[in-house]
Amino acid sequence: MKISIIGAGYVGLVSGTCFAELGWNVTCIDNDAKRVEQMRKGITPIYEPGLDDLLVRHGNSGALSFRCGADASLASADLIFIAVGTPMSDDGQADLTQVTSAVTEIAPYLDGYTVVILKSTVPIGTNDQIEALIRSLRPDADFDVCSNPEFLREGSAVQDFMQPDRVLIGANTEKASKMLRHLYQPLAMRDVPIMTVSRISAELAKYAANTFLAMKISFINEISDLSEKAGADVAEVAMAIGKDHRIGDKFLHPGPGYGGSCFPKDVSALIYQARQFNSPVTLIEQVQAINSARKLAMVDRIAGALGGDLKGRTIGILGVTFKPNTDDMRDAPSVTILPALIAMGATVRAYDPVGMNNARPMLPDVEWMAGPMEVFRGADCVALLTEWGEFNALDLPDARALMHGDALVDLRNVYSHDRASEAGLRYFPIGTRRHSDDHTTR
Ligand code: UGA
Repeated sequence: MKISIIGAGYVGLVSGTCFAELGWNVTCIDNDAKRVEQMRKGITPIYEPGLDDLLVRHGNSGALSFRCGADASLASADLIFIAVGTPMSDDGQADLTQVTSAVTEIAPYLDGYTVVILKSTVPIGTNDQIEALIRSLRPDADFDVCSNPEFLREGSAVQDFMQPDRVLIGANTEKASKMLRHLYQPLAMRDVPIMTVSRISAELAKYAANTFLAMKISFINEISDLSEKAGADVAEVAMAIGKDHRIGDKFLHPGPGYGGSCFPKDVSALIYQARQFNSPVTLIEQVQAINSARKLAMVDRIAGALGGDLKGRTIGILGVTFKPNTDDMRDAPSVTILPALIAMGATVRAYDPVGMNNARPMLPDVEWMAGPMEVFRGADCVALLTEWGEFNALDLPDARALMHGDALVDLRNVYSHDRASEAGLRYFPIGTRRHSDDHTTR
């Protein structure tokens, strides 16, 4: 089977490269000529661990090729994946412009039986609409439209693709379902469950998965605040509840609020769709509100470590991406938090291992440092926003010696009270406070 993928962004490029790794012949098609040229040379346009090696290996072997724009070569494709962006519109719904234009571009080239697969996260009913669109453009074409949502995470996308918890196929014909099962057979042989459901169930499942995970994060963030006030330790609470298989121990790390290209947009899109169906998801509406408030609460927390007045103070920031192992800045909490600190009169100096190029235009008033230790130099307070591994390895006594003040605000609980106080730092983690009469056995 020959596979074409329209859109070589996160999902498209990772999927295409991994399908080549599974043994298929793949063509990735993108409209950005510069991006295509880069990928042909084996350079990944995104930072994603493990992707470069696969791109070079399969580019050299010929299993993976790149083309700029849809053309007649699409006629030989048996499976065409649509993996373009579905960003958030101003009113909160998913913007399907890129999906419809991709489908309009491929329609003239459909030749022989072809399965068109929506990998982009699309609202409920989109597969039906796309099927009708292709039918109107090409009444003669022999095709099916399927849903095959992706569940990979940035930063571990290759591993998530190759070892997923499940593969979800939304199909309404046996023929299409069979082809997709054949495609994923190499994963089925590794005991990955390949599930076939209706197209609508697949569409909704993708939103339900992301909003559920977002809900888990907001839940633990609220329990974190409560732990702090009550004198509990959120890590202990999370560990205790996570051992219950019905709850699970993943996604129970408190932080500055979820960000990224998926959770904020998918939470918003599900809220929008649910209202359209007159079946509001009030729980998820609350998650959205909690997450927005969370980011602003982090501003107060950092300011609080300096007594509330930030005029003339210098704040160092460790990490600005929405999570480690990615250069993605989309909806990162830093984009809300850093300008708010600057608006309160602070000078903000930041460092991120790979995110600074993307961050610079988004955070123009921030001073960018060459390394993590530079962030500490002259700072009254340093706040850790993203849990990059290299921050854990920092020598805190050396870092403290460079500072003007002594406050360390840890929004990911990377450090510990003991480590910080041994370095002479006043430590402000989240979800815990140490009492002088704390007799726990930790
Ligand atoms: C998310 C989902 O996890 C993927 O399954 C999904 O495929 C993807 O969206 C998508 O729809 O494309 P991603 O956005 O890459 O993946 O990142 P996550 O690892 O889910 O993290 C999202 C945010 O939640 C980050 O800001 C992270 O710091 C935060 N988070 C995560 C926490 O604050 N606490 C946690 O315990 C876990």
